[in-house]
Amino acid sequence: MLSNLTPQEPDKILALMGEFKADTRQGKIDLGVGVYKDASGHTPVMRAVRQAEQRILETQTTKSYTALPGEQEYRDAMARLILGEGLEGARTASLATVGGTGALRQGFELARMANPGMRVFHSDPTWPNHVSILKFMGVEAVPYRYFDAATRGVDFAGMKADLAQAKKGDIVLLHGCCHNPTGANLTLEEWAEVAQVLETTGAVPMIDIAYQGFGDGLQEDAAGTRLIASRLPEVLIAASCSKNFGIYRERSGVLLALSEGGKTRDLTQGAMAFLNRQTYSFPPDHGARIVSTVLNDDALRADWMTELEEVRQGMLALREQLAAELRSLSGSDRFDFVARHRGMFSRLGATPEQVKRIKDDFAIYLVGDSRLNIAGLNQTTVPILARAIVDAGI
Ligand code: LMR
Repeated sequence: MLSNLTPQEPDKILALMGEFKADTRQGKIDLGVGVYKDASGHTPVMRAVRQAEQRILETQTTKSYTALPGEQEYRDAMARLILGEGLEGARTASLATVGGTGALRQGFELARMANPGMRVFHSDPTWPNHVSILKFMGVEAVPYRYFDAATRGVDFAGMKADLAQAKKGDIVLLHGCCHNPTGANLTLEEWAEVAQVLETTGAVPMIDIAYQGFGDGLQEDAAGTRLIASRLPEVLIAASCSKNFGIYRERSGVLLALSEGGKTRDLTQGAMAFLNRQTYSFPPDHGARIVSTVLNDDALRADWMTELEEVRQGMLALREQLAAELRSLSGSDRFDFVARHRGMFSRLGATPEQVKRIKDDFAIYLVGDSRLNIAGLNQTTVPILARAIVDAGI
């Protein structure tokens, strides 16, 4: 039976991780997978996370099962982090999931249970695994225009026109902040216009928010999501704790489903717990418990916010440095978009051949679509990358 299996196409981002590891060249630079690294190239355990873990180690008396949808404390803390003052508990169902990917998968499954014929509109480009999961599930994926190749900003007119084609019960997948892979983001005014298109079409927004705190700030990065939550009757939100808590391998995520409340909320909550049971039963607890310990303790929370802000400022400084370096090397301002982009990524708009040249000649690894991870740089490697970009003729 197993010999009937056909080879699966490897995930491009994960395949690049392996390629980088196998490269024996000195001074190689990894700007591929979206993992934060400090100036020494290390992905640190955040201070508050370490303290929370210590506290859990000292106080935890059992490893017995928790609740099927995950601990209430964790789900509430995450809902508050994402939705802030706008959180309406009575309309919010929530589920602890296996990372942000788990939240996306369970969100798609939930939507399909409610509307088996749904289509999912996604930005072009988007995180490749969005499309891969939908394809695997047999759900129709419909791209909408998003990236303007000329300005490296958002093609908002194109996006709006394409979203207007969505129908009642379709899902419109949006990146809450720090768009992956482009780094180009909507303004709050544009979010309001998207809300209006959704109101008109009756499509249901699903917001993937995996980088809250990495763009313009913890509150600012959630502003679009909060606006949508306040305007639309039904909203799905898939969030990850991998990046902003730096707990990648603990696999902590959350799915929020906002509805009109009452019976619908209870039905939704029941369906979500059912989905966990069908997939893996109880969600992982350790990372979730770290997150709720940090968020529910004033001192730990303040320290986490300080460290997260340092991370964000560090990435912004690298963006400024790279843009300045490129301005001086290219004698033009055509790379200034790097400083305007937000989050971990920027899409350079280079051809696959240019990306390959940068890898072959400079041992610098970008994702094939010319996405670079800003956090993979430091003050010393920025000029090396800038030189490579200009030499590759980008
Ligand atoms: C990325 O886009 O690099 C990250 O989200 C890691 C992943 O799982 O692809």
